[in-house]
Amino acid sequence: MYNDVDRVLFDETAIQSRLQTLAETITADYLGKELAVVAILNGSLIFAADLLRHIPLPLTLHCLSIASYHGGTESSGVVTFNQLALPNLSGRHVLILDDILDSGLTLEAVSKRLTEAEKPASVRICVLLQKRKERIPAIAADYIGFEIEDEFVVGYGLDYQQRYRNLPFVGVLRSEAS
Ligand code: XMP
Repeated sequence: MYNDVDRVLFDETAIQSRLQTLAETITADYLGKELAVVAILNGSLIFAADLLRHIPLPLTLHCLSIASYHGGTESSGVVTFNQLALPNLSGRHVLILDDILDSGLTLEAVSKRLTEAEKPASVRICVLLQKRKERIPAIAADYIGFEIEDEFVVGYGLDYQQRYRNLPFVGVLRSEAS
């Protein structure tokens, strides 16, 4: 598995240190409020587990299972909600967590659906990674771990055909492996 990685972009130490800073910013921004965190599965699982342990605020955690990649390295453009029921977020301060903002289609669909169906008090987006690229929709994250170039990455929750999520770092796959 490690041999399939061309280069490491962010190792464990860099990720944990950045998450600590990100968590401090989020904590300061939401002081005195109760957060409703919505983690997008499967990609944000490891990111959410590490980030939330650095946020000492009262919060509830909700998971949404979404499929948008369907196994390749290009976004399919089709966002599927794998569960019918949404968490009750009416009047709540919602923080959506995802692994990466790439085309933006997933986060746009999720924030639109949650906003329309649940009427939350506020909705913000936090991602581990944001790719530097133009997007239609013009969506941007409110909290970003790292900005990266427009290349396919794996590890720390991110997969290629469901593999590599357990790598402790974020890295670029060798072209032969994809
Ligand atoms: P977008 O923003 O394109 O992203 O709707 C949808 C989902 O696609 C996955 N994704 C990636 N997964 N390496 C990955 O392992 C990548 O470079 C990558 N880009 C997008 C990810 O699950 C994201 O939530």
